[in-house]
Amino acid sequence: MSITLRSFAKVNLGLRIGPARADGFHALATVYHTIDAHDLITLEVKRGAGLRLSCTDRRVPLDGRNTVHKMLTRALAGRPGLGVRVHIDKRLPIQGGLGAGSSNAAAALAGLESELARLGWAAPLAEPDRLRIAAEVGSDVPLFVLGGAVLGTGRGECVEPLPDRAENPVVIALPNMGVSTPEAFRTWDRNQPLTPDAQAGRLKEFLDAVRAVWAGQPPSGVAAPPGGDHAEGDPLSQLVQAGLCINDFESVVFEQIPFLRQLKKALALPGGAYASLSGSGSAVFGVYPDDAGAQEAEAELNTLGVRRLRTKLLSRAGMRAGTAAR
Ligand code: C5P
Repeated sequence: MSITLRSFAKVNLGLRIGPARADGFHALATVYHTIDAHDLITLEVKRGAGLRLSCTDRRVPLDGRNTVHKMLTRALAGRPGLGVRVHIDKRLPIQGGLGAGSSNAAAALAGLESELARLGWAAPLAEPDRLRIAAEVGSDVPLFVLGGAVLGTGRGECVEPLPDRAENPVVIALPNMGVSTPEAFRTWDRNQPLTPDAQAGRLKEFLDAVRAVWAGQPPSGVAAPPGGDHAEGDPLSQLVQAGLCINDFESVVFEQIPFLRQLKKALALPGGAYASLSGSGSAVFGVYPDDAGAQEAEAELNTLGVRRLRTKLLSRAGMRAGTAAR
């Protein structure tokens, strides 16, 4: 018997990059949000030995470089005699900034735990253990253990669930190119005029504002817009109106691939839209107040001849409900 799970993607609603750390990673602060677009992970557990991966996309490595391989190697450590086969049905872009590889790893762990529990061979892990293993596999993996709106700090792996927000329509432009995240971080460092302290201050400004607006308060330390005590609307709109919902990777990646800036402009045209690069790209997305805005954005992308995906923000509850595919 096998189990099939939906492995949902994410976008970043603002991403600030802080100073490079001694371990080579960068401090950062971001709001991740899962979206209703997914790969499919099918997993089978048997008595036996070893781990075998297959994938519909030949560009995906199937050895120790694969995030699913890394995850299951850790989860199976100390459990000799178990054989696991995993098939990845790739529907999301690779190196797209949508966290697909990281999500595959989290889904594989959920599938393994579920199968081991069904067979009566092991109880599910406690959530802190699940989050710890996820963080070892990659900075963007723990967010998928939680799902919904998630505040990410540290190198992105320290995650805090934020209250679920409305599942607004989302349109994603998927240009046919990948962006290397480590390379984007290196370029950010080379272009960095600020001192480490000033960079850390920018992180704190974003963090304080996110915590405030998600707690229903005005973003602290930010000048109120003229004519009102603070910006109106849901947390995302408030961050956007306060000018805080910026993805720092845009300054690097849009310089290298100007077409992505054009995509962002097209996605931002409908009223009330918030458009941004996701992670280090290459995917660029827009969040809309209603379906009409999303349709308008799709029409704009049509004229630019780029592949696109129409989806929605996916809440924590929505992700939990949608994970089991069959
Ligand atoms: O954690 P993950 O495997 O996704 O990171 C891939 C690479 O991206 C790291 O080796 C590092 O070069 C870079 N990175 C970083 N700072 C982060 C996350 C990733 O410099 N916060």
